[in-house]
This record gives sequence, C-alpha cells and structure tokens, in this order.
Amino acid sequence: MRLLLINGPNLNLLGTREPSLYGSTTLEAIQLDLSESAKVEGIQMEYFQSNFEGALVERIQQAIGVFDGILINAGAYTHTSIALRDALLGSKIPYVELHLSNIYAREAFRSKSFLADKAVGVISGFGTMSYQLALQGLLAYLRQTSEIS
Ligand code: DQA
Repeated sequence: MRLLLINGPNLNLLGTREPSLYGSTTLEAIQLDLSESAKVEGIQMEYFQSNFEGALVERIQQAIGVFDGILINAGAYTHTSIALRDALLGSKIPYVELHLSNIYAREAFRSKSFLADKAVGVISGFGTMSYQLALQGLLAYLRQTSEIS
C-alpha cells in the first residue's frame, strides 16, 4: 500500500512557526516519525509540501493510479481552495484531512473546510499526534474497504 502525505502553505516552517499553536517539532521530524510507523505497518509513505496551490493540485493529479490514499494538511488552503477540493475529488483517492490545531476552537473563518465533507475523516487538534492518528485512521479505512494490505 502506498500513501502520500501532502502539506500545504507555511507547514515547511513547523518548528519555529507559532509554536504555541503548532508545537516545536519540525515537518522533517514528523515525516521521519511517520516513516517509522509506515515500516511497522508494512506500507510505503511519500511526502510533498508546497506553498503553492497549483503545485498541490498537480501533485494530487500525479497521485492518480499511484497512491491508495492521501493524508492532507492543506493549511490555510483548507478554508479557501475549491481547486484542491476538486483535485481530490477528481483523483477519487480516499483522503483524510488533518490539522495540528483544533480549527473549530480558533477564528470563525477556520471552521469552514472545503475538504472535510468528502474526506474519509478529519483529525484536528492533537498537535503532531494528528499525523499519526490520521495515518491510523486512513489505514484502518483502506484495509476495511479493500483487499490491499
Ligand atoms: C492548520 C490550521 C490552518 O487553519 C492554518 O492555516 C494552518 C495550519 C493546522 O495544522 O492546524 O496553516 O492546518
């Protein structure tokens, strides 16, 4: 099984970006941790981060036929991007939306997600653990709905 983790704008700054909200762990460390879990689960993980909406759309399109599932922290594009929504739906690849912070406990504009209603599920508010929880949720879903292991 192959899964793709996509991170959107400003998540390359994890570690130094607003640590009171997002913690002090870098994206690289989060990804190393996920790779450990992937090894334990016997799956392959790949990673992509971009600050550009179009680059994220292109990566999703390139994932068609290659990846079985997507984990996505779309950052601020979560709340604005119909293009990302359309790309994910067009890909037909099951995805889990995730956030480090609890987007429902912050500014009102963060409570709107263009991705959530079509996601397998949403994980929000568990800090770096959100990535692990999203991985476990997506794996359980994919294993339940297919013969893939
Ligand atoms: C975020 C929440 C978004 O509202 C914000 O724009 C981010 C990070 C999170 O992981 O908590 O960039 O996706």
